[in-house]
Formats: sequence, C-alpha cells, structure tokens
Amino acid sequence: MNYKKYFPIFKKQPNLHYLDSGATALKPQVVIDKMVEYYTDYSANIHRGLYPISERATEEYELAREKVAKFINAKMEEIIFTSGTTDSINLVARAMGLKKDDEVVVEIEAHHSNFVVWQQLGKIVFEITKNTKILAITHVSNVLGQINDIKSIIEQARKINPEIVVVVDGAQAVAHMPVDVTDLDCDFYAFSGHKMYGPTGVGVLYTKAKRQLEMEPAKFGGGMIKTVSTSESTWANGPEKFEAGTPPIAEVIGLGEAIDFINEIGFEEIQKHEKELTEYLLEKIGEINWIKILGSRENKLGLVAMYSDDPKMGTSHDIADILGRDFNVCVRAGHHCAMPLHTKFGIETGTVRASLGIYNTREDIDELIKGLSKTWMIFTKK
Ligand SMILES: Cc1ncc(COP(=O)(O)O)c(C=O)c1O
Repeated sequence: MNYKKYFPIFKKQPNLHYLDSGATALKPQVVIDKMVEYYTDYSANIHRGLYPISERATEEYELAREKVAKFINAKMEEIIFTSGTTDSINLVARAMGLKKDDEVVVEIEAHHSNFVVWQQLGKIVFEITKNTKILAITHVSNVLGQINDIKSIIEQARKINPEIVVVVDGAQAVAHMPVDVTDLDCDFYAFSGHKMYGPTGVGVLYTKAKRQLEMEPAKFGGGMIKTVSTSESTWANGPEKFEAGTPPIAEVIGLGEAIDFINEIGFEEIQKHEKELTEYLLEKIGEINWIKILGSRENKLGLVAMYSDDPKMGTSHDIADILGRDFNVCVRAGHHCAMPLHTKFGIETGTVRASLGIYNTREDIDELIKGLSKTWMIFTKK
C-alpha cells in the first residue's frame, strides 16, 4: 500500500524521498485540516470561557488528552501536555526536585534530551545501586534503531532499588509500535507529537498517578492554580498543575487527530509495512561494501545510521548534501544529538541516518542507494 496520498507534501513534490522521519514525520492532510478547523471555527482559549466556542475548544483539547491516554493505556489524569520530549524530560527533573548529588543512571546511547538534563541537574552514573534516584532509559534509540527490552530493564532495576524512578524516552517508539505504559510499569514516559505525524510544539509526559502527587510545579502562572492571595498560592489538581499559561491548543487537537490517523491504519499494518521496508533497506545497504552500520541488524525499527571508514569518503554532511541536492533524498547527517555514543564508536564526523515512516516505499530506498553510489564515485575519483 502506498500511503503517500494522505500526505499533501507529495502532491506538490512527487519526487521527494523523505527518509528523515526520525527527525520529524511529515503531516497527513487530516492533521492539517483539524488544526485549520480549530483556527477557523472555534479558536478560543480553553478552560476559561463560558461561551460555546470556548467550550468546544476545551472539549476538543480534553478529548485529545483522552485519545493520548488510550493510545498508551494510561488514565486521562496521567497525561500532561508539554512542548515535546525535551520539555517533558526537563519537567520530570525539575518537578521531582532533582539535586546535584542525586544519582541518575543514563545510557550512552541516550539522546541529548535524556542525557544533558541529568548531567546538568543531577549526577550521571552508569550503574544502578540502592542509592540511584532515577533510571533514564530509551525505548528505541534514535541512532541504533534498536528496540530496547525496557520492561525487563525496569523489572531488574526495581529488584535493586524498589523506589527507583523510571523515566522512559519514547520519542522514537510511539509512531512505530504499540506502547502500554501500564504494562511497562514505568513512572514517566515522554514523547513528541511531531514524530508521530502530529504538529510540532506539542509533546506528552505520562506521569504515573502516584508520582504525580510527588511532583511540584515547574512553571507558575495562570491555569495551574487553585487559589492565589497576596502571600501564597495553592495548586490545581491533576495535569493542569503542570500546564501553566495558554497551552498549544491547535497542536494538542492536531495530535489527537494524528492518533486517530495511526489508529485507523493500525499498528499491525504499520509494523508490517515498516518491517518489510527495513529489511529491504538493510539488504540494499548490505550490498554496498564501503558502508558500515551502527548497531545490530536485529530487533531494529526502520532507522539506520551509516558510515564509511574509507579515508577517501567525504563526511556524513558531504554525503547528505549530495543526496539532498542531486537526488531529493532527505537524510540526516551528524551526531543526531547522541555525541557520547558516536564518541564511543570513535566516529567523530558523524553518521548518515535514514529513517522510515509510513509513507516510504521501495523507490525511496532505491533512490537513496543510487545517491550513495554516486557519492562514492565523486569522492573516490578525486
Ligand atoms: C530518542 C529521542 N529523544 C528525544 C528527542 C527530542 O525530541 P524533541 O526535539 O521533539 O523534544 C528526540 C528527537 O530527535 C529523539 O529522537
């Protein structure tokens, strides 16, 4: 099945080969239409107006919360809207009152969003002990593409420290596989709307109900209070406590529509489609003898980071530049916000990353392979 027809960008640019869904996914027409509907039909603020268009906006906003909750098997009150994964993880660190000598276990493969915040506000360690306060893990690596067995990692961690707070970065998982936070038994699960066919500017932080009670607000202002006097304030209950100010209303509503879009296709089909393409991508890359890939070929989502250790080859940026300019193939070059991982592998100039979405076809991969062969010719002929 070719899903390009649902994405208006391909109507104007039928020869666009978009292989950068790991950075952000393209937007289907239904998501764009839903946001335009908000702006044209009921673009009022939420939770405060008592007139019909404001009530409609509130209903749509809260309906999106319900859709998100159902999507990851959580309760509605456990869903906090943020501006993205980065914002969600920063919120956990601040709302849990992390202190400079609190131990946080992170992984070398973590995205900087799930690394730098712990480094700056806490103390990074690489082994869990009874003293570890937070375990920050990645569901799917944005460089290796590997699906981590986080359920068993969480179980093991709780055997060492039953009180450990588990934070999961699910940015690369939610668009490609079903996620059940209740089954995972994590405390927090963070993701971004824009990587799952939704708008930019909106993200989610799932907070286990018990942990939400331990959290202090990280931002202050309108919408998050219960009472305010000249000397003190008290806070609203539930997610509102963490959603100070006017939220990204159109974006939240658009995210709800993106979830409907994913549900309509269904994860069975999404996984089948993307698995078949991932196998094709790995097979074709495997035929090119100067390309190496980072990580294992097993248990991999459609995300492959490539490099060459041939000294004649250009940098990852040179390769991506040629692919974009001459082949209209969009890939990402560099460290993909995972510098410690690239340093560990000794790859200073970064990798070229191709990542798949539901709209990709074999032709996109063929074009990538053609482009890679041309870059090889250009650099080795010099
Ligand atoms: C694994 C992972 N975590 C976190 C992020 C950060 O997401 P955002 O920039 O939407 O906050 C990304 C984005 O590339 C990612 O791939």
